[in-house]
Amino acid sequence: MHAVAASQRDLPVAVFDSGVGGLTVLHECLVSLPHEDFLYLGDTGRFPYGTRSPDELRRFAGELAEILLAEGAKLIVVACNSATAAALPELRERLAGRVPVVAVVAPEARLAAATTRNGRVGLLATPATVASGAYDRALADASGGRAALHPVATAELAPLIQAGGEIDERTVAAVERACEPLLGAGVDTVILGCTHYPLVRPAIQRCLGRGVEIVTSGQAIVDEIERELDAAGSAAPSGRRGDYRFLATGDVDEFRRLGTRFLQLPIATVGHVPVAAPTEVAA
Ligand code: DGL
Repeated sequence: MHAVAASQRDLPVAVFDSGVGGLTVLHECLVSLPHEDFLYLGDTGRFPYGTRSPDELRRFAGELAEILLAEGAKLIVVACNSATAAALPELRERLAGRVPVVAVVAPEARLAAATTRNGRVGLLATPATVASGAYDRALADASGGRAALHPVATAELAPLIQAGGEIDERTVAAVERACEPLLGAGVDTVILGCTHYPLVRPAIQRCLGRGVEIVTSGQAIVDEIERELDAAGSAAPSGRRGDYRFLATGDVDEFRRLGTRFLQLPIATVGHVPVAAPTEVAA
């Protein structure tokens, strides 16, 4: 561990996502690392990411990371599976020597590889994440080729979860459609490879049955954040109570209203940050 100035330890861990979904990841961080300060940036103005091209997602990720660096981030967490799948190598290269980057995908793949007994791991994710093949590579690495991935892409589920106040029959029907191929494949472990899906975890578990283990990004990523902070010597002193604050690229009142459901903790003020307009129309 290097000697790090106290002020660096006081800087926030920054988390970004395509919108409010990454608040499910922030929730786990706030519970497990209560002494750290967090800054969350939701790109609600350009949600959803799951049907966008890798090029567009790489541009968005770079732009959001620069905003967070300007806000004094000591570590950047990419909570969004679609952004991680498309942009992680470029983002790490761009930020090398400036700030450590922790992302989803690999941590869940490692947890799934350690959890599965029959070597059949299901994945529920957006079309962008599934098409990238990022989870296939991560699981092959994590399991030494001993586990096989059964991916299911669903474009409808994240927008349905985001739009609906209460979980309704349409959402349950979408969950059932997504889970059907996983049941057919006999998976014993399923990765929820999209930030929104923990919100419908009971419906997914009911459909898959109690015998199937569910792995989420938030649960998987916390250890990695802690390791990176320790390695950089920039962890906040334990015993203090950390703060958390929010930025959004879309409507801030909407962020607060929707976000509280995802975070399951109070959201006070939300600041607005402008970003470039998307060049593509999300499907
Ligand atoms: N954060 C996105 C993901 O995990 C949610 C879905 C979306 O933006 O399309 O893929």
